[in-house]
Amino acid sequence: MAVLDEAHLLVIGVARGHQGQGLGFRLLERAIDRARRDGATRMLLEVRAANEPAIAFYRRCGFSQIGLRRGYYPAIIGREDALVFDKDLR
Ligand SMILES: CC(C)(COP(=O)(O)OP(=O)(O)OC[C@H]1O[C@@H](n2cnc3c(N)ncnc32)[C@H](O)[C@@H]1OP(=O)(O)O)[C@@H](O)C(=O)NCCC(=O)NCCS
Repeated sequence: MAVLDEAHLLVIGVARGHQGQGLGFRLLERAIDRARRDGATRMLLEVRAANEPAIAFYRRCGFSQIGLRRGYYPAIIGREDALVFDKDLR
């Protein structure tokens, strides 16, 4: 989703049986290339605080944590925090 010069990554997923083969990395690279072409200078995303594989994935792809949104996601019991990550695309 483009908002002025920022791109917001809303969802990315690889089917369970195909994870860990570099597909997520390539998908994200594609999304970043597309965002750059559309004039984005930064990409932002939220990820569930307990989603350790996705957090490791985003860090590996050059994202850094810039914030925390408390109670952002509904959870089985109560709500769960979101970590906010960004990456400079310039
Ligand atoms: C997160 C997701 C998109 C990653 O896709 P993927 O194709 O499995 O990831 P890749 O194989 O491209 O991995 C790229 C790098 O991310 C890191 N990584 C990926 N999966 C990881 C895991 N389970 N644990 C730790 N690091 C992981 C690794 O550093 C990996 O690089 P390496 O193989 O050179 O070490 C995928 O696991 C997924 O669809 N998860 C379920 C949906 C989800 O949680 N989406 C994000 C919601 S915000």
